[in-house]
Amino acid sequence: MSGDPAVRASKAQRPRRMAPAFAEMKRRGEPIVAVTAYDFPTARIADDAGVDLILVGDSLGTVVLGYESTLPVTMEDMLHHTSAVTRARPAALVVGDMPFMSYQVSAEQAVLNAGRFVQEAGADAIKLEGGERVAEAVRRIVETGIPVMGHLGLTPQSVLAFGGYRVQARGEADQERLTREARLLEQCGCFSLVLEGIPARLGAAVSRELTIPTIGIGAGPGCDGQVLVSHDLLGLHLGHTPKFVRRYAALADEMRAAFERFAGDVRARRYPADQESY
Ligand code: KIV
Repeated sequence: MSGDPAVRASKAQRPRRMAPAFAEMKRRGEPIVAVTAYDFPTARIADDAGVDLILVGDSLGTVVLGYESTLPVTMEDMLHHTSAVTRARPAALVVGDMPFMSYQVSAEQAVLNAGRFVQEAGADAIKLEGGERVAEAVRRIVETGIPVMGHLGLTPQSVLAFGGYRVQARGEADQERLTREARLLEQCGCFSLVLEGIPARLGAAVSRELTIPTIGIGAGPGCDGQVLVSHDLLGLHLGHTPKFVRRYAALADEMRAAFERFAGDVRARRYPADQESY
């Protein structure tokens, strides 16, 4: 909890964001701010900062769990971390990201696993990747009463099929297909749509076409909102930093320096001092 009463007050006054509010924000032309979080303190801090949406992304696999891709992430991993985020009771909407193989087998499997995010982890909505091939699953989850966020473009769960993390939909046929699939996801009831790793002009065109908001990540300034992986924006990710990332802090450097200072103090017997002892 923030020690600053002004921050606490502004948080107390902030109404909880629910999924329908996001179409309203688009209508009002209000940019949507989204970040990822995977734990309680990050969720608290991001919420205190006033973000609109917290995505418990399956990027968990690469930025927290040390995997090379998101493919090994399981439902149990996602429920564990989504629960930690919802325990922070954020005013922001919490979206749980459905991991690889938790929704591709059948619409029934997708509904059951989406339900677990809500019942077991307290999520407000779920996200899944893909267009036409997940349309039936999206329809069924929405009918169940669970808000769904779509995800098109450079969908990381398809990294093996893409042959790497490459910008998608550069050609005309692929752009037409992505636009068609965006319309389809809107028709199936998605309340918002993540557009990842696509040309900025396409991001803007799809955003104009839809009434639901688009949340871009590497999809240019024409999207209705923007999302970044928190470890990227905080300078805490140790791997490759994509071109679209803007760093707002250098926490890895700060952490390293703090650990080094602590190690120095312990080795020089400067820590603990009398006032830090009982
Ligand atoms: O898993 C994730 O963090 C995501 C965002 C990059 C949109 O899907």
